[in-house]
Amino acid sequence: MAKNILIIGACGQIGTELTLALREKYGNDHVIASDIREGGESLMASGPFESLDATQYSAIEDVVMHYEIEEVYLMAAMLSATAEKFPMRAWNLNMNSLFNVLNLAKEGKISKVFWPSSIAVFGPNTPKENTPQNTIMEPSTVYGISKQSGERWCEYYFKKYGVDVRSVRYPGLISWKTLPGGGTTDYAVEIYHEAIKNKRYTSFLQKGTKLPMMFMEDAIRATMAIMEAPTEHLNIRSSYNLAAMSFAPEEIASSITAEIPDFIIDYDPDFRQEIADSWPSSIDDSQARKDWGWEPSFDLKNTTKEMLTNLN
Ligand SMILES: NC(=O)c1ccc[n+]([C@@H]2O[C@H](COP(=O)([O-])OP(=O)(O)OC[C@H]3O[C@@H](n4cnc5c(N)ncnc54)[C@H](O)[C@@H]3O)[C@@H](O)[C@H]2O)c1
Repeated sequence: MAKNILIIGACGQIGTELTLALREKYGNDHVIASDIREGGESLMASGPFESLDATQYSAIEDVVMHYEIEEVYLMAAMLSATAEKFPMRAWNLNMNSLFNVLNLAKEGKISKVFWPSSIAVFGPNTPKENTPQNTIMEPSTVYGISKQSGERWCEYYFKKYGVDVRSVRYPGLISWKTLPGGGTTDYAVEIYHEAIKNKRYTSFLQKGTKLPMMFMEDAIRATMAIMEAPTEHLNIRSSYNLAAMSFAPEEIASSITAEIPDFIIDYDPDFRQEIADSWPSSIDDSQARKDWGWEPSFDLKNTTKEMLTNLN
């Protein structure tokens, strides 16, 4: 019998595509989507949905027991840019939701957990280029602090209680099915929408701001691969560095100009510039490649082609 899976925060940018991919693999009825809001049509129509608040332990427990859930993917969180506006709400959501899921696993009610970290765990004192797996972190955003703390707790629950928790540090994610939810790399999605609508985009990050990025299809593949990896292959229970490509706004703009020659980019940096400046430019993901065979398949050129084709 196929296992039952619960996705918490399933209606967001990653959750939507992850739910659809898991339903394709394990069967629609085996993958329960949940969120505090309803999602897009393809998600809502393709399988079970539960209205669920990730900060409510007993509500999650009820759903886990009802559906006999084995694995939980926790995608609910407040992202970097929004978290700077609501620090305490971000901390409460990001930490309490994680404790709820880790504690369910500690009590033996679920057997495996996926929880995403982020390149936001790194800070201004981290080496910027080819940032190693293990290095100075010192994040300077509320979001980054919550992700770094989350990583420490994941490793702690693995070591102390044997909780099978798996994690990757996603870079900025680029997708066309669902809009991003308030992060610092959102410009790299908005730019495609605006290129098609207006042939012009004003970037909230300055020219030269190079950040690690990934096309969603790669991110979903990585998520499913680490969850399927034999436990003895995993040497990191905090979170794995993960990379595909790195670029600055002017580089994504010129990849768009190759397809839409009269596209124009302008720059008007806002508070998100400071967040971006504290993050790495590129990531060393050799440990993920070695331990569970990670390999990206989309570069900037392919990503631009996919984005423009699908949004058109
Ligand atoms: N998208 C990226 O570029 C990126 C990069 C690095 C890490 N991540 C991490 O991946 C995870 C998913 O990110 P995303 O981009 O899909 O975020 P998103 O904001 O698009 O989606 C988050 C979802 O969580 C839901 N949610 C919020 N509060 C909730 C609550 N109390 N209970 C249940 N659901 C709740 C929201 O309604 C939303 O649908 C997050 O942990 C995020 O930090 C994302």
